[in-house]
Amino acid sequence: MLPTPDLSHLDDDDKLHVYDPAEDTFLLLDGLEKDTDQLRTQKPLICLEIGSGSGCVSAFLGSILGPTNALYLCTDINQRASVCTFATGKQNKVPLSPITCDLSKPLSMRLRRSVDIILFNPPYVPTDHEESVHAQGSAGIAGSWAGGLDGMEVTNRFLDNVGDLLSDCGKFYLVAQAQNNIPEICERMQIKFNLNSRIALQRRAGREHLFIICFSRS
Ligand SMILES: C[S@@+](CC[C@H](N)C(=O)[O-])C[C@H]1O[C@@H](n2cnc3c(N)ncnc32)[C@H](O)[C@@H]1O
Repeated sequence: MLPTPDLSHLDDDDKLHVYDPAEDTFLLLDGLEKDTDQLRTQKPLICLEIGSGSGCVSAFLGSILGPTNALYLCTDINQRASVCTFATGKQNKVPLSPITCDLSKPLSMRLRRSVDIILFNPPYVPTDHEESVHAQGSAGIAGSWAGGLDGMEVTNRFLDNVGDLLSDCGKFYLVAQAQNNIPEICERMQIKFNLNSRIALQRRAGREHLFIICFSRS
């Protein structure tokens, strides 16, 4: 069993402003760990995490693949999350490259069909539209969870681009909860980008039924 990344450098103030890893984060770690052999065999060169928060997930991926075997790009809308992500990389000896931006905006053209692993634990909690828009605009802690209608407003904006980013042998791991309508997400990705999907892992956590969906071309 691979150890969870060391986050002891993050203080209480960081946790007030940046998402503190929780059940959804740990389910994603478990999903990646379960796929360790496949991931290593794939030999990914470019990894991209959207919404990296503390940096815990990318640091974990780096421990699976090897810190210097791939480029670990991490985006987050929250500037403070980028600072924490960088520090978490340093603490765990995985060079993480954070970029503060909306989703993958500045990268999409340059990384066209070249990203081998994409990770996204999005703000998936259903809220009203205004709450999500406000959370996105203020780029603070509420942006970690406020997902708008069906909890899908932020995720949908990224799903529209993911097929253009993913390399031919790429894999995309997405965290979702049952209310996000997972069958509809999978069908849409199949129709739009010809991406196959499988449920890598699922778990009930309190009131949430969480899923890790893994998309790939083959
Ligand atoms: C549920 S948290 C996940 C954090 C971390 N990946 C984890 O699993 O612990 C969602 C993250 O997405 C970020 N986020 C929300 N909207 C975003 C956007 N439009 N672009 C980039 N990041 C965004 C939030 O700031 C937050 O860090």
